[in-house]
Amino acid sequence: MPNHFLSLTDYSSEEIENLLQLAIRLKREHAQGGNRPSLRGKVLGMIFQKPSLRTRVSFDMAMRHLGGDALYLAPNEIGLGQRESVADVSRVLSSYVDAIMARVFAHEHILELAEYSRVSVINGLSDHDHPCQAMADFLTVREVKGRTEGVKLAFVGDGNNVAHSLLEAGALAGMEIAVASPPGYAPSPQVVADARALSRTTGGVIEVFEDPRDAVRGAHAVYTDVWVSMGEDAEREERLRTLRPYQVDEELLALARPPAIFMHCLPAHR
Ligand code: NVA
Repeated sequence: MPNHFLSLTDYSSEEIENLLQLAIRLKREHAQGGNRPSLRGKVLGMIFQKPSLRTRVSFDMAMRHLGGDALYLAPNEIGLGQRESVADVSRVLSSYVDAIMARVFAHEHILELAEYSRVSVINGLSDHDHPCQAMADFLTVREVKGRTEGVKLAFVGDGNNVAHSLLEAGALAGMEIAVASPPGYAPSPQVVADARALSRTTGGVIEVFEDPRDAVRGAHAVYTDVWVSMGEDAEREERLRTLRPYQVDEELLALARPPAIFMHCLPAHR
């Protein structure tokens, strides 16, 4: 069975740390102009059911930097689960390419792609998770704060896919993650419970609040995301109304621990 990257909790703290170390090394080598062609001759198939700037460009450029290539399959090209079953797409694509990265609506689709694939599948965002985003964010925290262990990150707003992956990554890295969301928009109780259980073994702390001030007080990093994620346009008005008090402004940031950093996965709807 190929080694997939679907959710951070499929990995141990040590494995995640090793991946971060590898990223730090590759980033340094690239900055010094010394990319090694470790993926020469390899092709990454990229399936997008939703738009993407950062995920598309970062994967595509990473493949080129390492001597490989990437195949971009746009939202309307495949008809994943509509024109063709997820299992058929997975079996066919994985017999051509060396790895698959997919951005999907339903998390079940990423699981199904992985189940039928002959090659590794990477989750490039689903409605449940965004593990690559959290990996990039933890690299940023590491670069700016010099460490992740013991760092407090407050996530303010919709307890969505990005919040889930930050909770999982924080638990794995021994961080303090405090999420503040309005009623009805809290992160999945299962994700919170699993992150709490995991954090007991890593020295991390997982907290969930309604009042954003409770989460932000003393935080080294304050994070937020859009209030209307891709595919949620039907709920737009209600979401804008409910999440308005969760706007990160100077007053809220003043409660964080100076010099706190502000983080956003983008795209930002200001
Ligand atoms: N929560 C956002 C993240 C975008 C990177 C979305 O799913 O649209």
